[in-house]
Order: sequence, then C-alpha cells, then structure tokens
Amino acid sequence: MPVNPSIVDITATVTATSRISSDVTVICLHCPEIAKRAIPGNFVNIKVNDSTQPLLRRPFSIHRVDGESIAIMAKAIGSGTAILCQSPPGSTMQVLGPLGNGFSPPDSSFATALLVSGGIGTAPMLFLEKTLSASGKHVINIIGGRSSGDLLIQNLSNCRTATDDGTAGFRGTAVDLLRHDLPELLDNGPIKVFSCGPNAMLKALAKFCREQHIACEVSLESVMGCGIGICYGCSIEVNAPDGGTETILLCREGAVINAARLVL
Ligand SMILES: Cc1cc2nc3c(=O)[nH]c(=O)nc-3n(C[C@H](O)[C@H](O)[C@H](O)COP(=O)(O)OP(=O)(O)OC[C@H]3O[C@@H](n4cnc5c(N)ncnc54)[C@H](O)[C@@H]3O)c2cc1C
Ligand code: FES
Repeated sequence: MPVNPSIVDITATVTATSRISSDVTVICLHCPEIAKRAIPGNFVNIKVNDSTQPLLRRPFSIHRVDGESIAIMAKAIGSGTAILCQSPPGSTMQVLGPLGNGFSPPDSSFATALLVSGGIGTAPMLFLEKTLSASGKHVINIIGGRSSGDLLIQNLSNCRTATDDGTAGFRGTAVDLLRHDLPELLDNGPIKVFSCGPNAMLKALAKFCREQHIACEVSLESVMGCGIGICYGCSIEVNAPDGGTETILLCREGAVINAARLVL
C-alpha cells in the first residue's frame, strides 16, 4: 500500500513547554504542514533527538492544534519520553505526521459526544472536544485516573471525574461513572462515545457500549516503529466482519477503531 501523500516529515522547533503534573509535559511544536492537515485522533511519530539512543521514533497523539503549531501531551515513562519532556524551547526534532485515521467526523446520529479517557489517554481529547463543539455537538468529558494527581483535565470543559481511590470525583473507574450517569445522559438525545486510555479500560468500555447499543470509537496503543505501515510492528488482532478475527496494522487502520472490532 502506498504511503499517504499528506504525511510529511519535518524538522519542528519546540516553541514552548509546560509541565502540568509530576510526570506529564505539554510540548508545543511549530510544524505548519502537520497543523493544517491534522484531525482529532491523528498522531505524530517523533525522533526525540538526533542520536541513535533511542533509535526509533515514538508515537504521540496530537493534543491541540494552534495556528501553525501542534501540542503533544507526553508522560515520561522511559528514555524517549524523558528526553522529549525535557526538550527546551528552541530545540528541534523530526516529526512525522499526521498519522493514523483519526476519529470519525461528527454526523447526525448523535447529539451528545461523551469523551471517555483515562490517564495519558486524555491527550487527544482537547483537539477532539474543540472540533466537536465547533460543529454544534454537546460535549461531556468523563475522565478517569488512579488518583486525583492522574487526572489531566486542564483546558477541558464539562468534566466528570472518577478515581480508583476516591481522592477526586466519583470513586471507581471512568466506565463505572458512565454506567452511573447513563440514564441522565440519555435524557438529552442520542450519544456517541469517543475514548482513549489503558487497554483494560477500553475493553470494559467496549463491552458496556455493546450491551447498551451505544456507538463507540476507541483509540488504541501498541508498540510502533515506522508509523506508516512498513515495519509491521503494530499488528493487532481485531474482530472481522465475517465473525472471525483479522490482523490490522494499527498505525494505518487505527489508531482509532470502532469498539465493535475490539476482541474482548
Ligand atoms: C498511537 C499512539 C499514541 C500515543 N499517544 C501518546 C500521548 O499522547 N502521550 C504519551 O505520553 N504517550 C503516548 N503514547 C505512548 C508513547 O508512545 C510511549 O509512552 C512511548 O513510546 C514510550 O517511549 P519511551 O522511550 O519513553 O519508553 P521505553 O523506554 O521505550 O519504554 C519504557 C517502558 O514503558 C513501556 N512502554 C513503552 N511504550 C508503551 C506504551 N505505548 N504503553 C505502555 N507502556 C509502554 C515499555 O515496555 C517499558 O517498560 C502513544 C502511543 C501510541 C501507539
Ligand atoms: S508502526 Fe510500522 S507498520 Fe505500523
């Protein structure tokens, strides 16, 4: 399959960074060619420095688009993300994107969009919220975390929060909160769920949405190398239309998939 011609690989300059929690930093990158093509749910694959350590690029959701810049929200969990989170304004890095299919554009099948996210999975929700709100949809964020410090609600609207330990919002998971609030949410017409977060959360959410016959799209994570369908590092198994399963490359056919395709 040919590589999508709207994907560009550019040297982007870090224009600003902002640490928003003990291990999460928002990094703004000047990359006009990616900013003008991006849709919510797209990601970029970043070479965090010009050395061979780390050798491979690292994938990050587009958190926000601001004119000619994009922002990413990165959680430091290893060597690549640590370098990225410490990159000072003025430094440059290779950024490949926009990658992946993104969330489906808004349509008339729903009035309220429920953006359900957990942990660093909240990263793509600001861009999605802005796009859905601009199209006239009512948007509600349901955000989960282990504890209050894990909730990344900055700049999001209409947030309902859940924590495993009860230190903020509802005590329980984001899916428990959705189950609790669903009758009230359905009073305002049809809903559609858009989600990103840990696999266990996405599976529980997909199961719940299937039981309730609610449309749901989930943005998945996998190990990724190239980001453009060459290395096969991101192959995952999903439900096939014929009732069996099939293998897809998440970087090309995802990272967003219909939750009905998730193998539970
Ligand atoms: C489509 C996509 C979008 C993503 N968006 C974001 C985002 O917006 N913000 C963000 O912070 N992260 C995001 N990630 C995850 C991010 O790419 C990884 O955290 C990063 O690649 C880790 O690199 P590292 O060098 O710091 O860690 P490494 O040194 O490579 O790994 C450190 C440890 O983390 C584990 N690890 C590596 N990758 C992952 C992963 N994807 N999930 C769980 N554990 C992992 C490793 O097994 C290892 O134990 C996304 C991933 C994908 C596939
Ligand atoms: S990351 Fe290389 S094929 Fe998907």
